Amino acid sequence: MTVVQGEVADRQTAQTEQARPVIRNTPVDKKSATQSRRKSAVPVITIDGPSGSGKGTIASAVAEQLGFHFLDSGALYRVVALASLKNNIDEHNTMALVELARSAEIEFRRGADGDSQVFLSGQNVTRDLRREEVGDCASRVATIPKLRSELLTRQRLWRKPPGLVADGRDMGTVIFPDAILKIYLTASAEIRAERRHKQLIDKGIEANIAGLLADITARDERDHNREIAPLKPAEDSVMIDSSALSIEEVVTKVLDFAGNRI
Ligand code: DC
Repeated sequence: MTVVQGEVADRQTAQTEQARPVIRNTPVDKKSATQSRRKSAVPVITIDGPSGSGKGTIASAVAEQLGFHFLDSGALYRVVALASLKNNIDEHNTMALVELARSAEIEFRRGADGDSQVFLSGQNVTRDLRREEVGDCASRVATIPKLRSELLTRQRLWRKPPGLVADGRDMGTVIFPDAILKIYLTASAEIRAERRHKQLIDKGIEANIAGLLADITARDERDHNREIAPLKPAEDSVMIDSSALSIEEVVTKVLDFAGNRI
């Protein structure tokens, strides 16, 4: 994993690679074969990170700038959680939850203000999905291996030309391991709680910071420590700490990295 404050480290790598002579039938040759195979596949950029790190906002903005598709994988887990709460399905009823993950009719549409809107069976559930209770339930159902493998197949269907930006917890480690750029976006728990608070208040949803901080810490703990697809940076990811950065600054950094690779 590369930890960077800016693009300097990446540029240095690019210059070193340019300067390297191409020699046939050597490991370097194998590497360039892998690179050209990667280039021929539909490019994917993954943005993983903990709850409230801003990855959804950043991923959506990057997708829009590049004209790529956008996958908010957390919304899929939230939809399953919401549907289970609405239908009183017990969190331990694995079969019923997996069936929900398989059959839920989920659609993403861009709203009038450019926001990504989520529809479940034709009904706009964007607001419901942001509720803390739904996020908490999503984090718990996300620990079920069969449910994750059901969603794995669905998530890969989002990979379509001209490209995809996908955000979540395991986009770079499990779902799209061959992504051309993997970002691990993080920020301190306190900053994330403040941001989430502002987001909810702006949407007219009541919230208190202390409660949000406790929820975020509990969710981090569960997402990091679960047995299957835990939240962790991919080895070949670039880590960006957004605590002191604006949305625009993070988007610019990601686009700079992407520009070198697409
Ligand atoms: O990103 P989010 O807060 O909307 O995600 C809600 C929950 O869904 C999160 O706590 C863990 C789970 N999740 C996951 O396990 N894997 C993903 N790729 C995305 C989300």
